[in-house]
Amino acid sequence: MYKSDLMKGRNILITGGGTGLGRSMALRFAELGANIFLVARRPEPLEATSKEIQAKGVKAGFASCDVRDFAAVEKAVEAGEKEIGRIDTLVNNAAGNFVARTEKLSANAFAAVVGIVLNGTFHCTLALGRKWIEAKQPGNVLNIVTTYASTGAGSGYVVPSSCAKAGVLAMTRSLAVEWARYNIRFNAIAPGPFPTEGAWSRLMQSKEFEETAIKNHPMKRFGRHDELADLAVYLLSPQAQYINGDCVTIDGAQWLAGAGEFNEYRKLPDEMWAMIEGARKK
Ligand code: HXC
Ligand code: NAP
Repeated sequence: MYKSDLMKGRNILITGGGTGLGRSMALRFAELGANIFLVARRPEPLEATSKEIQAKGVKAGFASCDVRDFAAVEKAVEAGEKEIGRIDTLVNNAAGNFVARTEKLSANAFAAVVGIVLNGTFHCTLALGRKWIEAKQPGNVLNIVTTYASTGAGSGYVVPSSCAKAGVLAMTRSLAVEWARYNIRFNAIAPGPFPTEGAWSRLMQSKEFEETAIKNHPMKRFGRHDELADLAVYLLSPQAQYINGDCVTIDGAQWLAGAGEFNEYRKLPDEMWAMIEGARKK
């Protein structure tokens, strides 16, 4: 689909890049020639992914860092620039989430998720954005949100994440305008369900819940990591230079299925349709 050197010479920092969708994006960018610096808390997955990336013949490194801590983020950026060169692209992918009844949440539970998702995204964006502006260097930011943020609907049972992701989307759109003059581009991706250990262990409560999610999905399947990674490549590529401040949904029409008043009719069997159509002819 893409030229094999499409991302050659790019230096990309990905938060949460040692696992799940962050890892998949990192490996795809590396395959297309980008150097990658990974940032998250646990060193083991970071090191393992970093080695996988190096095996593709590009530069890779990592820093163990909690994105809630701005000073730590600034240090990680410095380490990244030493390791792979001047960073030109940021993917804000790190997140925290869990399902819970909101009335049972502690203030700290809310703060933990908002701190990772919203503050963390701001910290990384500010640390790199300031450098880009000072150096008069163009920049590219891709923020990973969720469909419950991009539709504006939010979602019960994941209220801290809903609030934080909606904030990240507002940041994406606000800074796309404010920093366009500096040649810094912002976009977001709103994924539907993509199986990952991190999300599934915290959000899919049982096998039945997972089966129901597939049954209710218009395409009867979850997303594939390569589908999301290739969308990220496009949005970060020079070909997408005029796409700024947008959020692209990749969910196989999952959220739309819950939005149309009569969409539940897709569950009617053909025999039922035959009866309805037969009745009309009478
Ligand atoms: C209620 C909870 C909780 C839960 C933790 N807390 N888990 N409250 N229900 N299931 C509370 C704790 O009791 C504590 O409050 C506070 O949250 C902070 O918890 P810690 O464990 O001390 O925090 P920390 O180590 O910083 O961990 C952060 C985390 C954790 C968010 C709680 O889950 C995490 O590290 N997640 C990172 C990876 C992740 O979540 N990936 C999934 C992304 S999926 P008190 O008051 O006791 O101190 C996603 C997309 C979803 O975002 C869309 C899918 C379709
Ligand atoms: P994941 O593997 O759990 O990814 C989350 C990553 O964030 C982990 O690598 C984690 O590493 C890192 N992280 C968490 N807290 C951090 C902190 N305080 N500082 C630095 N890094 C931190 O889950 P995923 O499913 O791939 O999620 C990736 C992104 O996709 C998230 O933004 C998520 O909201 C979004 N998303 C996923 C889905 C889905 O279905 N999977 C759907 C919609 C949106 P450490 O724990 O080592 O720090």
